[in-house]
Amino acid sequence: MNGQSAALRRFEEILAAQQKRVAAMEAQGDFLDFATLSPIVIGVCGGDGIGPAITACARRVLAALLTPELDTGKVVFRDIEGLTIENRAACGQAIPPDVLAELKACHVILKGPTTTPRRGDPWPNIESANVAMRKELDLFANVRPVKVPAEGIDWAFFRENTEGSYAVGSLGVEVGGIAVDFTVTTDAGTERIVRLAFEHARKTGCRRVTAVTKANVIKTTDGKFLEIAKKIAEEYPEIAFDDWYIDIMTAKLVDTKRRRDFEVMVLPNLYGDILTDEAAEFQGGVGTAGSANIGKRYAMFEAIHGSAPRMVTEGRAQYADPSSMLRASVLLLEHIGFVERARRLERALDICLYEEKKIAVTGRDTGATCEQLSDYIMETMARLG
Ligand code: IPM
Ligand code: MG
Repeated sequence: MNGQSAALRRFEEILAAQQKRVAAMEAQGDFLDFATLSPIVIGVCGGDGIGPAITACARRVLAALLTPELDTGKVVFRDIEGLTIENRAACGQAIPPDVLAELKACHVILKGPTTTPRRGDPWPNIESANVAMRKELDLFANVRPVKVPAEGIDWAFFRENTEGSYAVGSLGVEVGGIAVDFTVTTDAGTERIVRLAFEHARKTGCRRVTAVTKANVIKTTDGKFLEIAKKIAEEYPEIAFDDWYIDIMTAKLVDTKRRRDFEVMVLPNLYGDILTDEAAEFQGGVGTAGSANIGKRYAMFEAIHGSAPRMVTEGRAQYADPSSMLRASVLLLEHIGFVERARRLERALDICLYEEKKIAVTGRDTGATCEQLSDYIMETMARLG
């Protein structure tokens, strides 16, 4: 009985906190205008496991591309230490308060993977640093491109990043053998992600936006997501809109005859998490995929994979593949307005990883180190001029 009234109180608290979040969303202004911003501050967090090694590579490549702006002070890097699992465990928080203050003093952040504890791990079961950062900085759009040119695949996933099953993922209740988690979908939260997906489609000439839900079963939250997506689609008559359920969508991504028809996909948080790992696999695995976490004020760019602690304990961190962080760097450059340089880095990555392949990382001493691969990519960029 006691457990039950505590659970009901928890539900009240969750509702009140979500109402506050909606009010904050509605009060928010427009996206930062990087063209008028000086300096643009790029925070760099290495993270855990292989994170520091692959993040250092991406930082070096970005520094080479942004040399003129770094020289004039138009762009500055700010290294942020301390987003490590040891520090997070010691203070019992997903992001230590001093680190959060440093993050908030930047405009964009390049972030290496961080370890996410779960029940039974040697670490306290604190919230994931990624999830906490997405919420704290209100990074509502997780944009994950996947491209396999040889198969005609060119997808952009717009994963809602602050709501769904992740909104209150650490606040479920357990009463007498019954565990209940909560999923949250709001009008304001859905409208902004769907609109961003359509705006992207319009800007890049995509002809189709696809919403992915399980609205036939998860009727209240996914039902709302789909209903709002349909309504917003009417504002973009030149773009075709369709919707699929997550189960059949997962199957269609392996259907070689149909999958090239998809272009922009917009979907709730958990489905986006799962579907983007599947999608990245066609491109060569999660190690090859970068992602942008975009909000109105802040943006954070990261790999879509984890921190691979085993590679560190086996002494192989220097052989980790940095291409996910380099792909994330392409998205970062594009976001802060250096579109031509983003294209140059992207082109160099395609040449080095898919075309010439003079060296390759294998994750072991049978292949190149992440630094050697970065050197090769920088030489290739220099050749491109
Ligand atoms: C991702 C990751 C995270 C997520 C984990 C580390 C919490 O899988 O960025 O896709 O679930 O969002
Ligand atoms: Mg994931």
